[in-house]
Amino acid sequence: MKVLVATEKPFAKVAIDGIRKEIEAAGYELALLEKYTEKQQLLDAVKDANAVIIRSDIIDKEVLDAAKELKIVVRAGAGYDNVDLEAATAHGVCVMNTPGQNSNAVAELAFGMMIMAVRNFYDGKSGTELMGKKLGIHAYGNVGRNVARIAKGIGMDIYAYDAYCPKEAMVADGVKPVDSAEELYATCNVVSLHIPATAETKNSIDYDLVNRMPKNGLLVNTARKEVINEADLLRLMNDRPDLKYVTDIMPAHHDEFADHFPGRYFSTPKKMGAQTAEANINAGIAAARQIVGFLKDGCEKFRVNKK
Ligand code: 3PG
Repeated sequence: MKVLVATEKPFAKVAIDGIRKEIEAAGYELALLEKYTEKQQLLDAVKDANAVIIRSDIIDKEVLDAAKELKIVVRAGAGYDNVDLEAATAHGVCVMNTPGQNSNAVAELAFGMMIMAVRNFYDGKSGTELMGKKLGIHAYGNVGRNVARIAKGIGMDIYAYDAYCPKEAMVADGVKPVDSAEELYATCNVVSLHIPATAETKNSIDYDLVNRMPKNGLLVNTARKEVINEADLLRLMNDRPDLKYVTDIMPAHHDEFADHFPGRYFSTPKKMGAQTAEANINAGIAAARQIVGFLKDGCEKFRVNKK
């Protein structure tokens, strides 16, 4: 059996070492396609792979058509919006993610960006502190819970909105649940986004929603760029010179944000949330183990597509 790691943005070497150990202990072969720049390289590499470990790499119908021997794709990470689930099902390919394995890394980066923004991007002028400020966690999943844990240590007043999470779970963590996204934005000085990109959430962070934030509001995005209505946010930041936006996923309109809102906007050049040795090790090794469990025992825990 051949297991391919296909990562345009590579794992730390120590994670690859761990993945290799798991795969070779199972008697399988590990192949690496790292830092590829052309889709053709991926199409060539998947031809004889039985299993593939990916990150944000796009697995569409064309890739699945080329992967004649493929049985399983594991997205080493949380969001699987980069995989065509219907096409995978049609091809008889199982798709899994590795929930929770990189969530602390993403949560820590959210605070790195938050502090940078409230300290005016380190321009020397007095900024503000996070202690005592109202933090809104938009979606209370694995990352949201880690954000709450860290925010507690900083001394923030923590609110969350998640239509799919029981309020009791938030209350148990010392978090105040609110009834709607509108209420969350209207309440909080800082909102940290942790929603996945789905048909329901794409473009949902729009003018009306963010405009509810109090004066000097800060929006932090370590989730997905697709959830932001960029045209709306550009218009709103123009209308509201008090608002700031920091993101770990470079917007399609990055140049416009950067040109129009210096000192109020920041984007990492490449998504960095899960880019720690620890997260790479956790997610990469979990992916390798899930592949071995699937190929040897048919274990489908963490499957995200229909059969
Ligand atoms: C995820 O969905 O797990 C995070 O967004 C991290 O994505 P990455 O592996 O592409 O950095």
